[in-house]
Amino acid sequence: MKTAPNLFFSSLCSMFNKLQQKWNVSSGQLFLILCTFAVTGTTTAYISRVATSWVGFDETTFWAWKLALRLSILIFGYQIIILIVSFFFGQFRFFWNYEKKILRRVGLIPKEPIRLAIFASGKGSNAEKIIQYLENHPVVSVSLVLCNRSGAGVLDIAARYGIKTVLISKPQFDNSNEYIQVLKNEGITHIVLAGFLWKIPENLVKAYNNKIVNIHPALLPAYGGKGMYGEKVHQAVINAGEKKSGITIHLVDEHYDNGKRLFQATVEVLSTDNPDTLAEKIHALEHAHYPKVIAEWLKVK
Ligand code: GRF
Repeated sequence: MKTAPNLFFSSLCSMFNKLQQKWNVSSGQLFLILCTFAVTGTTTAYISRVATSWVGFDETTFWAWKLALRLSILIFGYQIIILIVSFFFGQFRFFWNYEKKILRRVGLIPKEPIRLAIFASGKGSNAEKIIQYLENHPVVSVSLVLCNRSGAGVLDIAARYGIKTVLISKPQFDNSNEYIQVLKNEGITHIVLAGFLWKIPENLVKAYNNKIVNIHPALLPAYGGKGMYGEKVHQAVINAGEKKSGITIHLVDEHYDNGKRLFQATVEVLSTDNPDTLAEKIHALEHAHYPKVIAEWLKVK
């Protein structure tokens, strides 16, 4: 049985692990970042307290002026102080990016362009819906299509929309950083898997941590995992006599169909359905939702 201090310690560790993953930093850097936050917090609180006397406010000053001064230091001064403190901890870059995110969110600087790469192996109907949905978007563009099968429909679709394509080969994909370099050279910020049949290797998952999304044609965690793709999924659903199936849109980690689930939608499975009719219904569901869920995930909707 876990004692209270053990429980506290393990939840603290898991919180730190989560932060490390979220920010994609080493444990040393995480420590320096947390120090920056702590020093900034106390410094800002101190300054906000003493600043009222610096500017000559006293007991006779209307309370709202004092409050306004303290709040503006806590809200706006904090942003400047954090940059100064981060410099001393060698974390200026991290915090400058953090500040830029805030400035973008409040519309003070333009949003950074999001460049998507779509990975697909087949027909590419999902890829096409995504391309169409994001066409002329002010911030997001589909900039690259990667495919592992020459002659796949998705390559024609990409050509039709003037999107650059890359045909990938298995040994390089699994055992080198070649395609990570290709993606980085193209300025790709996020990856969308749309009917891509190969497992994403660990180096790529790490390089695009929490920035890869996938769609699976069933209600995960059921009917997922190795070998569960395309018609095999629908056949398994029908064989099991399921009354409903659906789609799952999820982030990609090192394991098949395992990352954080972002969205699910369902369809009824009728006794008259076969893998083809079920696939058709699932496709309609995918086309209706995948582009929108991607936009929500990218926070550009
Ligand atoms: C989709 O059903 C997707 O869920 C699955 O593969 C299919 C791809 O279809 N992973 P398309 O190539 O987008 O038409």
